[in-house]
Amino acid sequence: MDSANCFTYLLLISFLLVGSWFCAIGAQRSAPIVNGLSWTFYNSSCPKVESIIRKQLKKVFKEDIGQAAGLLRLHFHDCFVQGCDGSVLLDGSASGPSEQEAPPNLSLRKEAFEIIDDLRELVHKGCGRVVSCADIVAIAARDSVFLSGGPDYDVPLGRRDGLTFATRNVTLASLPAPTSNTSSLLTSLATKNLDATDVAALSGGHTIGISHCSSFTNRLYPTQDPVMDKTFANNLKQICPTTNSTNTTVLDIRSPNTFDNKYYVDLMNRQGLFTSDQDLYTDSRTRDIVKNFAVNETLFFEQFVASMIKMGQLSVLTGGNGEIRANCSVRNSDNKYMVSVVEEDLESLSELK
Ligand code: HEM
Ligand SMILES: *[C@@H]1O[C@H](CO)[C@@H](O)[C@H](O)[C@H]1NC(C)=O
Ligand SMILES: *[C@@H]1O[C@H](CO)[C@@H](O)[C@H](O)[C@H]1NC(C)=O
Ligand SMILES: *[C@@H]1O[C@H](CO)[C@@H](O)[C@H](O)[C@H]1NC(C)=O
Ligand SMILES: *[C@@H]1O[C@H](CO)[C@@H](O)[C@H](O)[C@H]1NC(C)=O
Ligand SMILES: *[C@@H]1O[C@H](CO)[C@@H](O)[C@H](O)[C@H]1NC(C)=O
Ligand SMILES: *[C@@H]1O[C@H](CO)[C@@H](O)[C@H](O)[C@H]1NC(C)=O
Ligand SMILES: *[C@@H]1O[C@H](CO)[C@@H](O)[C@H](O)[C@H]1NC(C)=O
Ligand SMILES: *[C@@H]1O[C@H](CO)[C@@H](O)[C@H](O)[C@H]1NC(C)=O
Repeated sequence: MDSANCFTYLLLISFLLVGSWFCAIGAQRSAPIVNGLSWTFYNSSCPKVESIIRKQLKKVFKEDIGQAAGLLRLHFHDCFVQGCDGSVLLDGSASGPSEQEAPPNLSLRKEAFEIIDDLRELVHKGCGRVVSCADIVAIAARDSVFLSGGPDYDVPLGRRDGLTFATRNVTLASLPAPTSNTSSLLTSLATKNLDATDVAALSGGHTIGISHCSSFTNRLYPTQDPVMDKTFANNLKQICPTTNSTNTTVLDIRSPNTFDNKYYVDLMNRQGLFTSDQDLYTDSRTRDIVKNFAVNETLFFEQFVASMIKMGQLSVLTGGNGEIRANCSVRNSDNKYMVSVVEEDLESLSELK
């Protein structure tokens, strides 16, 4: 609900006391829940979950704000591969914690997995084993956005952790390649019910973080992409002298560590890093969206939140499906410490009583 609608709504139902409550949350909760999650899922079982996570992440980001980008990307990978079910966290997952041979375009920061399991430990110490790893990833992504300067928003919760993970091939097929043009991005994201506005907004996640050379040297060698700004291209060639160079560079040259709308300003200046980024400004279906985000950060923030909430509901497991993992990188049935975990659960239960 936007604020104008909200106002009309308030007028219409101002005789109802509940009207003001609906509108108070209307601004933050800008996308509907479609897949069984809830805004108040942990209200009684773990009311502190969000404050525990935010407090810890403030500490982590004070040391290294780059970790925020790693956590945001982790949520994206989790949701796109098989659904937001924490499967990306499992040992053996193609971009998971133990995967040494993932190509750079798949590899997630090792620290991201450690940060998530540290959060899991803090949350389970506080509440018992009631919060899923998938929800911790979703909340951590939100906090990464907010603590980097972006919007704060409520995340619908209640995801459960999956029991299986995707193979390498399925993982590769589920994630769009940085070499994709807008046509193929739109086609592939439409299968996830994400439209052109969602694609343009979610790509704005590239306002923070870094990339390996191999994800964009297709635009430098053997011939330089004519769409790319010449000075920008020359600088990238210094950083990546060959296609197999292992260097990294920032995704948003204007403000690499701040979650803002400068990514779209980069695109308008032909300084987008990936084909998938830059083509959003070439393709007529997304060009005006890019322009609007570049001139109006509020608009970008509102749309980013709505699209994140949409993405965060992709094929989630709820109710009696899946489980609450005791260790984010292993299924409970593979967890050799599970016996002691059950004991811990019983202890925290008796403490509650
Ligand atoms: C639209 C299709 C997308 C493509 C093709 C894409 C591709 C990539 C690639 C290739 C990298 C660099 C990997 C490397 O070489 O190290 C990257 C990094 C990143 N992506 Fe995306 N991505 C997409 C969507 C998203 C979305 C939806 C988000 C989150 C909302 C996101 C957030 C990030 C972040 C934060 C980084 C930096 C990670 C870090 O610094 O560790 N991306 N992306
Ligand atoms: C759930 O908790 C939040 C934050 O403490 C509070 O704002 C909200 O009113 C609660 N909702 C319900 C239904 O209890
Ligand atoms: C994965 O893809 C590769 C190359 O496309 C193929 O050779 C291989 O058989 C596939 N593996 C599985 C398990 O499907
Ligand atoms: C990642 O890189 C591999 C080669 O290293 C390539 O086969 C694959 O298509 C790329 N996938 C994505 C999602 O970029
Ligand atoms: C986009 O990429 C696809 C797949 O590589 C290709 O078939 C298509 O011609 C490209 N479209 C445009 C407009 O460049
Ligand atoms: C890595 O990038 C820096 C500039 O950021 C450049 O000076 C250096 O030569 C590059 N190293 C390699 C191995 O390509
Ligand atoms: C990287 O590529 C260059 C040529 O492009 C080649 O000479 C070199 O051996 C390659 N290095 C590795 C480690 O593959
Ligand atoms: C920017 O977008 C916001 C949110 O949609 C809107 O309320 C505002 O009027 C826009 N500002 C301008 C200057 O267009
Ligand atoms: C979680 O499981 C991983 C993989 O088996 C293991 O290396 C790690 O020590 C475990 N973490 C905890 C806190 O038990």
